[in-house]
Amino acid sequence: MKIRFFSLLLVISVFAGKLFAGPLDLVPLPASIQKGEGEFEFSPQTAFFGEPGLTSLMEYGGRMVASKLGFVPGIVPAGAIPGSAMIRLQLSAPFDGQLGTEGYLLKIMPREILIRANLPAGVFYGLQTLGQMLDGAEGGKLPAVTITDHPRFSYRGMHIDVARHFMPIESLYRFVDYLAMHKMNVLHWHLVDDQGWRLEIKKYPKLTEVGAWRVDREELHWNSRPLIRPGEKTTYGGFYTQEEVKALVQYARERYVTIIPEIEMPAHAMAALAAYPELSCTGIYQGVAPGGVWPITHIFCAGKEETFGFLEDVLTETMALFPSTFIHVGGDEADKTEWKKCPLCQKRIKEEGLKEEHELQSYFITRVEKFLSAHGRKLLGWDEILEGGLAPEASVMSWRGEEGGIAAAKMGHTVVMTPGSHCYFDYYQGDPSLEPLAIGGLTTLKKVYSFEPVPAVLTEKEGKMILGAQGNHWTEYISTPEHLEYMAFPRLAALAEVVWSPKESRNWDDFSRRMNSQYLRYEKAGIRYARSAFQVWSHPRLLPETKTLEVAFTTEVSNPEIRYTLDGTDPTVSSPLYTAPVAIDRSVVAKAAVFVDGKSVTAPLSRQFYLHKAVACPVTLKYPNSLKYDGSGEYTLVDGVKGSANFNDGNWKGFYKDDMVATIDLGKAVGIQSVETHAIQDVGSWIFMPKEVVVEVSADGQNFRKLGSVTHKIPVTAAEKLTHDFLVKKSAKKVRYVRVTARNLGICPPGHAGAGKGAHLFVSEIVVD
Ligand code: ACM
Ligand code: ZN
Repeated sequence: MKIRFFSLLLVISVFAGKLFAGPLDLVPLPASIQKGEGEFEFSPQTAFFGEPGLTSLMEYGGRMVASKLGFVPGIVPAGAIPGSAMIRLQLSAPFDGQLGTEGYLLKIMPREILIRANLPAGVFYGLQTLGQMLDGAEGGKLPAVTITDHPRFSYRGMHIDVARHFMPIESLYRFVDYLAMHKMNVLHWHLVDDQGWRLEIKKYPKLTEVGAWRVDREELHWNSRPLIRPGEKTTYGGFYTQEEVKALVQYARERYVTIIPEIEMPAHAMAALAAYPELSCTGIYQGVAPGGVWPITHIFCAGKEETFGFLEDVLTETMALFPSTFIHVGGDEADKTEWKKCPLCQKRIKEEGLKEEHELQSYFITRVEKFLSAHGRKLLGWDEILEGGLAPEASVMSWRGEEGGIAAAKMGHTVVMTPGSHCYFDYYQGDPSLEPLAIGGLTTLKKVYSFEPVPAVLTEKEGKMILGAQGNHWTEYISTPEHLEYMAFPRLAALAEVVWSPKESRNWDDFSRRMNSQYLRYEKAGIRYARSAFQVWSHPRLLPETKTLEVAFTTEVSNPEIRYTLDGTDPTVSSPLYTAPVAIDRSVVAKAAVFVDGKSVTAPLSRQFYLHKAVACPVTLKYPNSLKYDGSGEYTLVDGVKGSANFNDGNWKGFYKDDMVATIDLGKAVGIQSVETHAIQDVGSWIFMPKEVVVEVSADGQNFRKLGSVTHKIPVTAAEKLTHDFLVKKSAKKVRYVRVTARNLGICPPGHAGAGKGAHLFVSEIVVD
């Protein structure tokens, strides 16, 4: 997994130079840009000038200019008369209503650059815009311009999970800088989960002595990692000391980034319960989970007073470290199995007059909210905190779609939008066969850019409850800061524009063009970003009458130069240029890539198309496939297309618990040499290879004889998503019907996160030759 990932990073720069269209290619796009006359030229004599309260921003600006131009501008001392070529930082008096608390005016004139804002935060964002312009400034010259800018939303966030994989503190400093560069202002720090407790708590030292460390099962798939066994050593993990946290919080504060800590409850707490098992219902030690756990039943006991005493102590130390108004308490995915069996939880339900366990969760969160409110803080939680009744002052983070956010906004609660569909940056951003292993899904750059945080069903008043949006980086499949960067960028740029820029200015083609300059900025800053938006996608269409295919190639970037081949070789700059769908009337391996300046930007798309004997023949299934996984419809298994490693690519039929028993009518008796069944394994999505594939043939559709069968040796713990062809190579004459039985594993195997529960089987094509 790691080797494959790093090979993706070692792509040489293709953007250097040419694509930087100009210093005004800003991301996120400012509210207003008006070009002026002339230009400002930076020189070593250029100096900052401003009131003493802005000295630290002048120093920050000086370091920024130095990093871009190689010289440090001076600061004109208070009381001195500034010379020419000055960068003047100014706070407005009176308050300029149009700019609000974070907006700024940036005016570049031939002899002066002026940044004016109501508050230092606005000056800071003006400096960020200036910094982006300097990345494209040839010879230190900037065109005269007046930019008036302010954010659309007050909450512009990114979430990092450091529990599933620990991220070194240095990497978080870098992320704070990257957030500032994109005018984002919240880092939601997911500090604890089943797989690790990362925050030093002085009163409970075992939280980090025990809870920060797990048995090392990193070589196994996330969802195939058994819990700790007696005698095993916990060697994998890490934590942050309170001193480290304070320093990072201060660094972020100086960059107008608020860090919101998340202390999960009542579930996602196995690391805490490994340290203090007595706080669970059973009191039984289960250890820190080394991988996926589902469902999450081992949770804090809601019946014990000790649980609340512990959490209040932990939150007291947390609040002392984090000045943020919001404290996130999780609240998601708590399975209530243990609560149902626990006498103390049941006693609590009775005594508090609660209906059932959902109301017990509501009691839990409401009680914690009272504690936070009493300390001047506000509770933020995942949308499950709505279940059983929302705590009176709570704010909701809507992740399971936008429904939770809609419900909360209608009830008058503030909301942060982070639906899985558009904001989960742990999802794939490109073709899974060209990407490092991810948890699943597909959230491309263009999809993120299309996100609208305010649901259309809300009234204008309700819409005001939406504070903004956030991109989430869950790290089950992300074990290094380098990989995290790859997942964050460039998607974070798309989200930054969604939450900062005016809704009316949203324009994909323009953004896509400006991103070419942003990529160059990333290269200058050393950010290891993904080029997945340049990948090519194929869209095959079966023409059943002629039993041929027509294949269209698309990509997300505007004005692409797509070149393709049909002979299995990698496309080059002299391969045919794609202009219209390509007719396929024989079996081919098609490859396609986007070219910029004569170079291929990403690894090529590679797809096999097979015009075999069963193409477009009728297929009957003994057991229907899952409604949700119907592939391309009736011809999915015989449409000439083998699916990719993405079970959701439209080429796969899925069968839940059942075998696939497919009978193909070839229309007339023919001779055949082989039958090949294309299946996929995606352990993280509970999809396993068939145990066995059996091929039978018949002349009349009644009497079948076995042609052959085939098994495989792919382990059910394999970390990669992989496809496999089950080939039965044996000739037969006068065959009209072919019956293929792919035997489902039926239930997920021991050690898997879904052990004992239903397993899926997926098949994309049955190739009859
Ligand atoms: C979540 O993804 N469980 C909030
Ligand atoms: Zn209990």
